[in-house]
Amino acid sequence: KIHRIASIPGDGIGVDVTAEARKVLDRAAERHGFGLEWTEFDWSCERYTRTGSMMPPDGIERLSAFDGILLGAVGFPGVPDHVSLWGLLIPVRRAFAQYVNLRPVRLLPGVESPLAGRTAEELEMVIVRENSEGEYSAIGGRHNAGQPGEFAIQESVFTRVGVERVVRFAFELAGERSGRVCSATKSNGLIHSMPFWDEIFAEVAAGYPDIYSEQCHVDALAARMVQHPERLDVVVGSNLFGDVLSDLAAAVTGGLGLAPSGNVNPPGDHPSMFEAVHGSAPDIAGKGIANPVAQVLAGAMMLEHLGEAEAARAVDRAVSDVLAERSAVTPDLGGSGTTAALGSAIAAALR
Ligand code: NAI
Ligand code: MG
Repeated sequence: KIHRIASIPGDGIGVDVTAEARKVLDRAAERHGFGLEWTEFDWSCERYTRTGSMMPPDGIERLSAFDGILLGAVGFPGVPDHVSLWGLLIPVRRAFAQYVNLRPVRLLPGVESPLAGRTAEELEMVIVRENSEGEYSAIGGRHNAGQPGEFAIQESVFTRVGVERVVRFAFELAGERSGRVCSATKSNGLIHSMPFWDEIFAEVAAGYPDIYSEQCHVDALAARMVQHPERLDVVVGSNLFGDVLSDLAAAVTGGLGLAPSGNVNPPGDHPSMFEAVHGSAPDIAGKGIANPVAQVLAGAMMLEHLGEAEAARAVDRAVSDVLAERSAVTPDLGGSGTTAALGSAIAAALR
């Protein structure tokens, strides 16, 4: 079986870590008897500075022919971040109804959590972020520029269909895990959107009597993630809340260099897109020291999504084995390894 993959390395360290992920995934494919047919696209902020657009006008159409998309990261000093987000990431997420942003969180072997004494079991959780609507909306505007009464308005859009499908996904996932779901809210401050979110959460919860569900204001939830991570398993949140909570979750389990994510279209009628949580890291770009693990694990999530569960587990195991050994780790984990050497060590550890 051959899976057709679109690779979009992007900018900065996105390019380096995607090369390592490809190295590891190709090796896994070889070992597990399937093929990966890669097509690479140079869509990036670098392309934007040359041509004025992140991707060609038929970009979405071209991607639609693939079984999966592996994205590095986009972002380039001098190009405003909203260009890369609205010129590539958000159109792809929305065109392919990738309405779940799945961010598994775990403490890997050989990695120290800044939360002293916490075990891997206590820190194990998954953030289910709504990925297609909510606070990330283009509706609104700037008014009265230069006047004392200058102001900006930013609208959010929450639809019943949009909230229900992501909440349902979280409950289904909880059924396969601990049986616990916590919803992030802020209905005391956001008095229209969040009560609507909470109401739909309660309606969906009623259909899952065996799942323990609760809701928590997002500020308190952030504190709980640091003080009592063992009380969390599946956390579901809106686009903004999920975004913030998943970087926090990555930080409490050892940093952005280790955290993968999937932009998932659950019915599978469009391609899903997998990427590291981190960005293009201009501060370390070009130095060859970015940690490729987040992108390798994003690749493992893609294999799982493509039905290659055994190969996905093998990649996970290889990552754990190499990290536990610690000899090849990059500076963010206290080592002196390079991106390429760590990628090669993981590929070599595959069984
Ligand atoms: P960032 O994630 O690129 O970097 C934050 C910090 O973490 C930096 O100090 C960086 O060196 C470190 N870091 C990140 N990944 C690492 C890795 N694999 N190994 C070692 N250290 C790592 O976030 P930042 O600096 O806020 O954004 C930089 C650019 O990336 C911006 O243009 C931003 O818009 C873009 N970005 C793109 C994303 C995407 O493509 N999905 C997501 C987040 C940011
Ligand atoms: Mg983020």
